[in-house]
Amino acid sequence: MNDKKPPKTIATINFKGGVGKTTVTWCLGDLISTYGKSDVLLFDLDAQMSLTQAITLNEDGSLHGKFSNWQERSEKGKKTIFNAIDEYTKPKSFNFGIDYDFIYQIADRYHFVPSSEELYWLELEVFDREKMKGLMRELLGKITWSKKVSNYHYALFDCPPSFTLLSYSVLAVCDLILIPVNPDFYAVKGVPLILNTLKMRIEPLPIPKIAVFMNKAKPYAGKMTRESQFYWNQVQSICLKASEQSGLNVKCLDTPIFDRVQIKRAITSGGIPDDFVRDFKSLWAGITDFLNE
Ligand SMILES: Nc1ncnc2c1ncn2[C@@H]1O[C@H](COP(=O)(O)OP(=O)(O)OP(=O)(O)O)[C@@H](O)[C@H]1O
Ligand SMILES: [Mg+2]
Repeated sequence: MNDKKPPKTIATINFKGGVGKTTVTWCLGDLISTYGKSDVLLFDLDAQMSLTQAITLNEDGSLHGKFSNWQERSEKGKKTIFNAIDEYTKPKSFNFGIDYDFIYQIADRYHFVPSSEELYWLELEVFDREKMKGLMRELLGKITWSKKVSNYHYALFDCPPSFTLLSYSVLAVCDLILIPVNPDFYAVKGVPLILNTLKMRIEPLPIPKIAVFMNKAKPYAGKMTRESQFYWNQVQSICLKASEQSGLNVKCLDTPIFDRVQIKRAITSGGIPDDFVRDFKSLWAGITDFLNE
């Protein structure tokens, strides 16, 4: 008997660029696969490929040998994310087989579906938008039932700073939307925009839970500076208003990730810097409490 369960799915989204979507998604995946001993599947859905490059490139810009062998196999076997989308959008039934030619194993419990340059062209092709909405649901179903890959407890999606067809299909299936915000004027002003857009685009499908937290909070004596706290207070009141007025289930997680330069090497050095482990553990505790509510 196959006792697999679908993974809990979390999409990190903000239309604002550079707020830390990629960094935070990577660090959470690393934390929960290492400390939480959960099996995690990470998706890079951004055609910019920042996450994919960080994971797969050496310091001199060359590809890791292990990844380049895998990529060759994946492309030869037509097992990239783009091949999956291509298959899905054809009129015939969707028979895309899931195995480790589609999923790359970064570590024992931390697995990865890389992005592909071809995703840039996706938006220009004339795909049926309504059909695309179902892509991730179908793909996650296949991953869940495949006997050739792990039983993932969590699927984390690193989304681009725009609303693409792929983010659309993730939002239609995810359990939680995670929104990092930064302590600056424009980042705060962007919060109502993203909340309104999410509501407008996802309905009539159920809107996932939304968790907002501050990334790059400026530290002072173990807490946020007064300036960062000022912006965080604004974010909290915007989210409260959104929950009251539009019925969105938004929670502000009072567990900031601080602005520290060491995080810049987190992905390429393959782990969360020690200073950050506590920040991420607290953030993850808030996320799981909310997921289980
Ligand atoms: N807590 C932090 N402290 C210090 N630097 C950070 C922190 N979080 C992210 N950064 C840095 O901020 C920059 C942008 O981060 P990242 O690429 O994760 O953002 P993003 O939201 O994914 O960007 P994009 O919108 O382009 O996808 C990177 O240089 C990253 O190292
Ligand atoms: Mg990014």
